[in-house]
Amino acid sequence: MNRRKFITSTGAATAGALLINPVKGVAGTTARRSRKKRVALVGTGVRGTGMYGRNLMRDYSDYVNMVGICDANPGRLKVARELIGVDSPVYTDLEEMITKEKPETLIVTTWDSTHHDVVNKGMEMGCDIIVEKPLTIDEDKAQSIIDAEKKYGRKVIVTFNYRYPPYAGKMRELIMDGIIGEVTSADFHWNIHHGHLQNYMMRWHGEMNRGGSLWVHKSTHHFDLINWFINSEPVQVNAFSALERFGSKGPFRGNNCRNCAHTAKCPYYWNINNSDYLKSLYADNEHYDGYIRDNCVFRHQIDVFDKHSAIVKYANGVFLNYSLTADTDYAGYWIAFNGTKGRLESRAMGFPARDHMEMTFTPVSIYNDKPAEVIRIPYVTEGHWGGDTIMMNKLFKDPDKPEPLGQQAGVRDGVMSVLIGVAARKSSAENRPVDIEGLTTLKPQAVKPPFTG
Ligand SMILES: NC(=O)c1ccc[n+]([C@@H]2O[C@H](COP(=O)([O-])OP(=O)(O)OC[C@H]3O[C@@H](n4cnc5c(N)ncnc54)[C@H](O)[C@@H]3O)[C@@H](O)[C@H]2O)c1
Repeated sequence: MNRRKFITSTGAATAGALLINPVKGVAGTTARRSRKKRVALVGTGVRGTGMYGRNLMRDYSDYVNMVGICDANPGRLKVARELIGVDSPVYTDLEEMITKEKPETLIVTTWDSTHHDVVNKGMEMGCDIIVEKPLTIDEDKAQSIIDAEKKYGRKVIVTFNYRYPPYAGKMRELIMDGIIGEVTSADFHWNIHHGHLQNYMMRWHGEMNRGGSLWVHKSTHHFDLINWFINSEPVQVNAFSALERFGSKGPFRGNNCRNCAHTAKCPYYWNINNSDYLKSLYADNEHYDGYIRDNCVFRHQIDVFDKHSAIVKYANGVFLNYSLTADTDYAGYWIAFNGTKGRLESRAMGFPARDHMEMTFTPVSIYNDKPAEVIRIPYVTEGHWGGDTIMMNKLFKDPDKPEPLGQQAGVRDGVMSVLIGVAARKSSAENRPVDIEGLTTLKPQAVKPPFTG
């Protein structure tokens, strides 16, 4: 689909949806945008209290009222309210909060493994949903969300903030403009720095049944980006993954890091109590629910991977060569698209390489029958390369603003990106290619259906 056709189809659909679907309240009543939207937050960890708590109330309080805050942990909930700086009522019971406070929109920033419970209950009780990625962690939970969305007819937005940085927008625009012709294959390689992986392994992200492995928790961003860039849906995945350094591979283990007997010799030693912020949010409240923020990175429960390779075949014929190297020396990525008329690529180095190389821009390079061209996109570090603010503006400040690049995502996008990770997990475990069709009732389409809200 070329750019003009894309804008025409998504723009028309969006305008149509707005005419017949004005802002709806819990009881289905309509309301004008001139008043503040009633939002409630569920999940008060770093993401909830930060981006959708403190930042939301600091920058968007002219547009939203936080009418309730919910977390299963009563201690964290209390700290969260102070961190966010509001006096909204707090609840450990989701249904009670929705019944009493009647939010129009629930913002879901709970653990990946509990997103479906909160999302589905919220829809059942009449709320629209803004949910963090990954939408969920497996195909059955994904199906339950597909079914609930159909049943209750609410609006669900999945916050794929990686679609919003200026370099990503530029690449999407160039592909839609046909600068490299029809895309035939893509190469996408993502690095996670050692320290970031350590952070994952200490938390629930290290356990398959809680984060779906990095194939889902992390790669959902990357698979979604590719689905969006090439405007198609995946059909088959072939993958390998392995765990080499953490979990049972480690030489010793303790209960948690801060008071472990092996601190002197462990390369991963970290004392959570040195951070007032993390101590007050997590360590001080672990007696309520047993959520340990500084678990041992060598605990036997770790069953996710630190290296991942996959080949994904798309319904439009594109092949994706993908890797997630989760334990390496700098954070960053290298992404490239090969087309019938050229090649488009970008590369960025994050911590710590960027600091040595003084990168001030992200290069987006075009190679075709003209002289090679490098477009320099100013480099932004904050908020996921500048994407978070653009996404938050669209979510809360100017929700009706047209998005010619189609950045906002819904359930179908969320599910498709998760299913590539689920298929990769199965492929790697069973040593066989795995089809996307059959995992849920969604059938992969050659042209990705646009999200119309
Ligand atoms: N888009 C991004 O770049 C990005 C970045 C960071 C985190 N995230 C996502 O944000 C979410 C939260 O991450 P985090 O690091 O803040 O996690 P966290 O573990 O620090 O916090 C999650 C909170 O949810 C609460 N919780 C879990 N299940 C619940 C339930 N059913 N009802 C009520 N409360 C519940 C926990 O008690 C905890 O306080 C995750 O889904 C994560 O993947 C996205």
